[in-house]
Amino acid sequence: VSLKPYNTFGIDAIAKSYANITSVKDLKNVLKSYALEPLFFLGGGSNMLLTKDINALVLHLNLKGISIVEENENYVILEAKAGENWHDFVIYCIDNNYGGVENLSLIPGNTGTAPIQNIGAYGVELKDVFHSCKAINIATQEEKIFSKMDCNFGYRESVFKQDLKGKYIITSVNLKLTKRNHKLSLDYGAIKNQLESFEVNNPTIKDISDAVIAIRQSKLPDPKEIGNSGSFFKNPVISASDFKILQKDFPDAPHYVVSDTEIKVPAGWLIETAGFKGKRFGDYGVHNKQALVLVNYGNALGKEIFALAQLIQTTVERIFNIKIETEVNII
Ligand code: EPU
Repeated sequence: VSLKPYNTFGIDAIAKSYANITSVKDLKNVLKSYALEPLFFLGGGSNMLLTKDINALVLHLNLKGISIVEENENYVILEAKAGENWHDFVIYCIDNNYGGVENLSLIPGNTGTAPIQNIGAYGVELKDVFHSCKAINIATQEEKIFSKMDCNFGYRESVFKQDLKGKYIITSVNLKLTKRNHKLSLDYGAIKNQLESFEVNNPTIKDISDAVIAIRQSKLPDPKEIGNSGSFFKNPVISASDFKILQKDFPDAPHYVVSDTEIKVPAGWLIETAGFKGKRFGDYGVHNKQALVLVNYGNALGKEIFALAQLIQTTVERIFNIKIETEVNII
């Protein structure tokens, strides 16, 4: 079975076998029956680079449904099953005037994988609206409810990427959203500019969603047209003293203050300054509008893109003495 349709990078890796999972019951049964087989779990396929064929049974998690768990006049807690497409879920919230996820419009992938890397954009992270999630223990098939605390969220991080990596399958996510007095996140300069160009003064959550969609469409490639996994690297966080050294050679280096002692530097700027922006090698390369995004123009191999990623890492380290880590899972 080719996995090309199931990963947004559009890599033509072959899976030994494949099963579409549409209920928790099916998931538990399969985990039990195939406990001794190598298994590979696939959600929206939006955060992985397949560098080889998958010698395993691929379980495609397609549990669907959105329901109200709790509500009053001020807020609602929604349960979204893991296989719900994230952006479709955001649009459902906008249509129902549920606030909190509008800044996270147009992020590829599924709701069930959103907590793993604590998806974030334009000043909001999933953790800001996250209430809890349900997950199945792969070894015992028992269900566990994870509170926000349990998840240990950080920048593109959670317990599911750390201590519990490969141990649980998230089957649904509960999010707490506002029904009125929405707390709008408008700090991000690009959102302000976009709303100004829309001539919007008192933005609604729909206006913000539209602004984010416009910004993302202007610089991020649509995976339906050009294969990609969004930001390929995380933005590195360096010490304030290392940043001072960097500033000597690069006085205009863009940066965000994380704490008194830490500075985040946009990896996109490092990669662009290293000369990679828009570079194309055969069927793959670095996106011309956002250097943080690696792209597959057609039939690139995962290992070719991985080799480019390594070249970018070593070049950035040589020039800036900064290590950049991949955000995308390399398989
Ligand atoms: N920049 C460049 N050249 C580039 C790209 C960026 O110089 O080619 C510099 C510019 O100074 C720009 C700054 O980097 O002002 C920030 O760029 P941008 O606003 O595009 O954001 P980012 O830091 O590159 C992060 C997230 C994105 C998210 C945006 C907006 C990470 C790894 N990426 O990118 O998330 O959409 O902020 O909040 O944190 C993703 O995770 O897949 C993703 C797209």
